[in-house]
Amino acid sequence: MSAPGASMRGMSEQPGYDAMADAYDEAFPAGYASVVERHAVATFVDELLATGPPGLVVDVGCGTGHVTHDLASRGIDVVGVDPSPGMLAIARRHYPELRWVRGDATLAALPEVRLAGVVARFSLIHVPPEDVSGILAGWVSRLRPGALVLVAFQCSDGEPVLEFDHRVARAWRWHPDSMAALLEAAGLQERWRMVVQRDAARRFPDCHLLHQLPQ
Ligand SMILES: C[S@@+](CC[C@H](N)C(=O)[O-])C[C@H]1O[C@@H](n2cnc3c(N)ncnc32)[C@H](O)[C@@H]1O
Repeated sequence: MSAPGASMRGMSEQPGYDAMADAYDEAFPAGYASVVERHAVATFVDELLATGPPGLVVDVGCGTGHVTHDLASRGIDVVGVDPSPGMLAIARRHYPELRWVRGDATLAALPEVRLAGVVARFSLIHVPPEDVSGILAGWVSRLRPGALVLVAFQCSDGEPVLEFDHRVARAWRWHPDSMAALLEAAGLQERWRMVVQRDAARRFPDCHLLHQLPQ
């Protein structure tokens, strides 16, 4: 088994999330920690529905599934993907009617279908920085023209990328410009970004970045 955060060769495993899945579910019983986060996902959905007939969206690192469920309840055809069997078991228990796949951000576990969008909230933070470009290129190779990608992550304090003391698994904070540059290099154009500043509920600012594959 590889280390948490793990390799591009085999599926990334997340023993920390497996061990903490029940505690995580108790600590985060709802999908969103702030109104802004909910609006970021709602805006992703509104923009997706405005770009043409909806298609399949992947919720990468779906965790316990609340955001996957929110996407589905907003009319999106969505599949939740996560490397942690423990987190997926909770997602399945909460929402047995939805589709759940054990897999990582490479999307290797999914069939080769054209995607209308990708949502990756606080999951790319667990991918070693040197692997992120390859993962984004893999997403782009599966996206249909006009597809949307919403990525959320904790922000650095100016450094391009910086490992931090995440409680569950190895994780990296990103400067919004650095993550945006990787998305742009993969062929995705920035549409908007939202930054939620530090407050009593968060140690670091959160960034929500929306990019689009040109039509
Ligand atoms: C902080 S939780 C976020 C859960 C959910 N996206 C949300 O917004 O509530 C991070 C999730 O990312 C998953 N994860 C960790 N490494 C991953 C990887 N390499 N690829 C995809 N997901 C990963 C973890 O198993 C965990 O469920």
